[in-house]
Amino acid sequence: MATSKGPGYKLNNGIEMPGFGLGVFRSGPEETVAAVQSAVANGYRLIDTAAAYMNEQQVGEGIRASGVIREDIFVTTKVWITDYGYDQTLHAFDRSLRKLGLDYLDLYLTHWPVPSAFDDTVASYRAAMKLLAEGRVRAIGVCNFGSAHLRNLIEQTGHIPDVNQIEVHSFFIQSELREADEKLGIVTQAWSPIGGIKRDGEKAKASGKVHDPLSHPGVLQLATKYGKSPAQIILRWQIQLGTCPIPKSVRPERIAENIDIFDFALAADEFQAISALDTGERGGPDPERVSPQTFPLTIHD
Ligand SMILES: NC(=O)c1ccc[n+]([C@@H]2O[C@H](COP(=O)([O-])OP(=O)(O)OC[C@H]3O[C@@H](n4cnc5c(N)ncnc54)[C@H](OP(=O)(O)O)[C@@H]3O)[C@@H](O)[C@H]2O)c1
Repeated sequence: MATSKGPGYKLNNGIEMPGFGLGVFRSGPEETVAAVQSAVANGYRLIDTAAAYMNEQQVGEGIRASGVIREDIFVTTKVWITDYGYDQTLHAFDRSLRKLGLDYLDLYLTHWPVPSAFDDTVASYRAAMKLLAEGRVRAIGVCNFGSAHLRNLIEQTGHIPDVNQIEVHSFFIQSELREADEKLGIVTQAWSPIGGIKRDGEKAKASGKVHDPLSHPGVLQLATKYGKSPAQIILRWQIQLGTCPIPKSVRPERIAENIDIFDFALAADEFQAISALDTGERGGPDPERVSPQTFPLTIHD
């Protein structure tokens, strides 16, 4: 897999995935084409979108405008929970491919577990297994699964996901879950890797409690020491933690900054100091409580 910067991962099913990518949650359609182009120009080879982000079409346009061949870009999208169920997911996959303007996908993820109707989550995953067997997608996985959800899914399907994409940042480091992923050979992708959810998320706004890793004094000190930005310090920490971070930005200078982290390393005590910021408090929704009723978004054809 051509990824010009950083190490990659070999997934459970043998294919390679870049170890760093661009996220596009909350990237407006009008900003997304340029963000993707800018990311690819700066060496990103993984783009993470979702049906629910409403910008798959622009992600596809950005890829086509990037000048890099399709095969060298690893494209992820996700099925939203209102499309769970076997047939619904097959339909949602076709819709996503059509919007992206692609004829295959690299990674298809179920967006959240729905614990109150887990059979539907499993049925969606079975649809993803069919797409994998047909070669329409190169790898499949889940997002926001706890270890009990993983066990349950694997027991029912006999298939181990390639990726579990979960909230991980310096205030919520998810040690046990990352360990559970690792034991199963599942790559942990870190969403909100620089703590975006702790700044912009609903909970942070409602509580007035904004925990920003990027303004933590310890992180600022390391930024000065290494001549790097706070975001670069946190993203470097993610790499050393063993996650695949997918930071979001629509600003070209930040897109370039975020991937410029492969020319330095944090010392063991510095790495530990960032890990020790963990509060055990997530910024995003509790996966146990997610359902189509709590997030009733409809994805239109
Ligand atoms: N599977 C899931 O359930 C799930 C949930 C949430 C997110 N995700 C994925 O993970 C990706 C990343 O998560 P996220 O968007 O929540 O949070 P994030 O990447 O941690 O943070 C993004 C925020 O930080 C800002 N930012 C980016 N680079 C910066 C820098 N160098 N310095 C200062 N600020 C910077 C961005 O603003 P600007 O754009 O203005 O630069 C944006 O407000 C998403 O885009 C999405 O692809 C997945």
